[in-house]
Amino acid sequence: MSEPMPAEGREPILSGHQLTRQFAGRSHRALDGVDVAVRPGVSLGIVGESGAGKSTLLRLLLGVDRPTSGEVRFAGQPLDRARSREFRRQVQVVFQDPRSSLNPRMSVASIVAEPLRSLRIGGDRAARSARVAEVLTAVGLRPEDGRRYPHEFSGGQRQRIAIARALAPAPRVLLADEPVSALDVSVRLQIIDLLRDLVDRLGLTLVLVSHDLAIVSQLCPEVLVMRHGRVVERGATADVLTRPVDGYTRALLAAIPQLPTDLVEEQ
Ligand SMILES: Nc1ncnc2c1ncn2[C@@H]1O[C@H](COP(=O)(O)OP(=O)(O)OP(=O)(O)O)[C@@H](O)[C@H]1O
Ligand SMILES: [Mg+2]
Repeated sequence: MSEPMPAEGREPILSGHQLTRQFAGRSHRALDGVDVAVRPGVSLGIVGESGAGKSTLLRLLLGVDRPTSGEVRFAGQPLDRARSREFRRQVQVVFQDPRSSLNPRMSVASIVAEPLRSLRIGGDRAARSARVAEVLTAVGLRPEDGRRYPHEFSGGQRQRIAIARALAPAPRVLLADEPVSALDVSVRLQIIDLLRDLVDRLGLTLVLVSHDLAIVSQLCPEVLVMRHGRVVERGATADVLTRPVDGYTRALLAAIPQLPTDLVEEQ
């Protein structure tokens, strides 16, 4: 990430236009006029304090929740009520807690093969098994781990399983909502390394929600800072971290004493 990416000029693969989301019974909008553009190859970090609207935005981009007003577009086309098969293949998600996102009754191989089955891709059983073995290996597990069940794995390994499942249909975009914050500190770095490796090797574009600016600075060349449902700052992560324009972003940075300065300079 030492060279600035030539991001301009690339058409966004996923974008949100003037997104608002008002939940019933709430006086404030969870999202209030948010524009966001995810360009291929330019991973985007979304940061902000609790309640800022980060997960709400991610859910709209994933199409599992709909905006009160505004529009989400995939490859330039509005995401309609019935999300297209192509969208469901190309945009995958990883959540915070692998404990609750993996079905304990299913073998790891069935969990990882699930998106292939539901999207009816990946060929016959043998071809699917081969794909499962391939993505398990890609996330640092062994093909034979497919025969085991989620409870037999550690938290970090479970998150690897969740990532393998997301990778199975060969997506272009991986949405991740606090993918390491439920993990032990020692395991976090390994999962961050894995995500960086996948971005580099597979050309994945990450949309990473995190309250941790240090993680965002390692994985995302661009960042969007949210507060009270609005975007208060956006731009190259290196610029935002070193020269924050918005007072709120400065406060966020000041609240992270462990942010290594060499990380910022590396950008
Ligand atoms: N299903 C819902 N019903 C009602 N209010 C909701 C719902 N989901 C989110 N909200 C509200 O919308 C606002 C934004 O929530 P959101 O979960 O997007 O924040 P966040 O930035 O992801 O926070 P955190 O860092 O704690 O995960 C909050 O005020 C929240 O209480
Ligand atoms: Mg959230």
